[in-house]
Amino acid sequence: MSAPLVLGIESSCDETGVGIVRGHELLANEVASSVEQHVRYGGVVPEIASRAHLEAMRPALERALATADVDLTEVDGIAVTAGPGLMGALVVGLASAKALAASLNKPLYGLNHLVGHVAVDLLDHGPLPQPCAALLVSGGHTSLLLVNDITGDITELGSTIDDAAGEAYDKVARLLGLAYPGGPVIDKAAADGNPKAIAFPRGLTAQKDLVKRRFDYSFSGLKTSVSRWVETRRRDGEDVPINDVAASFQEAVCDVLTAKAVDACEHLGVSDLLIGGGVAANSRLRSLLEERTAARGITLRRPRPGLCTDNGAMMAVLGAEVIERGLRPSSLDIGANSGL
Ligand code: KG4
Ligand code: ZN
Repeated sequence: MSAPLVLGIESSCDETGVGIVRGHELLANEVASSVEQHVRYGGVVPEIASRAHLEAMRPALERALATADVDLTEVDGIAVTAGPGLMGALVVGLASAKALAASLNKPLYGLNHLVGHVAVDLLDHGPLPQPCAALLVSGGHTSLLLVNDITGDITELGSTIDDAAGEAYDKVARLLGLAYPGGPVIDKAAADGNPKAIAFPRGLTAQKDLVKRRFDYSFSGLKTSVSRWVETRRRDGEDVPINDVAASFQEAVCDVLTAKAVDACEHLGVSDLLIGGGVAANSRLRSLLEERTAARGITLRRPRPGLCTDNGAMMAVLGAEVIERGLRPSSLDIGANSGL
């Protein structure tokens, strides 16, 4: 059998994504974002996101089919995010995928969004060496994973005990008066700042934490520390050096993310580390990981930044893997699972 042609649909948050792949080959990846509509609220408003998905889904599907030059009747399966994510947002993608699967009589695959963030790297770098370690850093999740098999056998070594890394970026941007989403804005502001200007804390790196919570992360203490530092300056009538604060905050996040990820590889004895999720687009995280993995002989797999944030191709390529493995499709009754 030739590589499966798969349509992937993603709608877990504020991006409506429709992607088409043939095996590990990317044919189309259309993403429509409602982010502009959320900016003034400083975060995603679920109701607005759901309505935007409803409006964007069909045009995104049509654009993807045209770009890939594919007719819907040709696809081998339809992969869709079943969770985790915002319930009202997930159901729009799931209902669309079910309607297509039922009307075209194609198999439906309801899949995990987080695994999609890991699988997307297949489109850039081909088959995954298994086992490998994965650092998943998004707006809702931050975890270190051991991937034995992308279609099923994934173990979580550790995760954040409070805020996700992307959430910390978004919250710090807000307190600095920067736009939502904060990640890309802080990334940019940090480029003109001094990462050593302010010594912000590195969460869960004290000796006792390294014993009990070696592969867990914590970013809420860091966020509080940035907030106190900024408030003190403002109270004293001093200017807040936005670029230095952004660079120093970013250094604290990336230092801990990379140190623990490299430690996990050594602990597991795996020689490949993959990064995924929106924060994996961060320039400092990418360069620091490159430095630290190279120093230890670990091969780093970084999908191109445009594939790190939410998109439909990540679900399509995961679907292609599932089909290649001959795994069973989902029932047309499958529900969305916001906490999957
Ligand atoms: O994976 P994603 O697109 O959506 C979720 O599944 O959460 O991740 C979104 C998160 C946001 O918090 C955003 O601020 C962050 O990824 N992000 C970044 C960058 N680009 C997006 N964080 C740091 N640096 C970036 N360049
Ligand atoms: Zn995501």
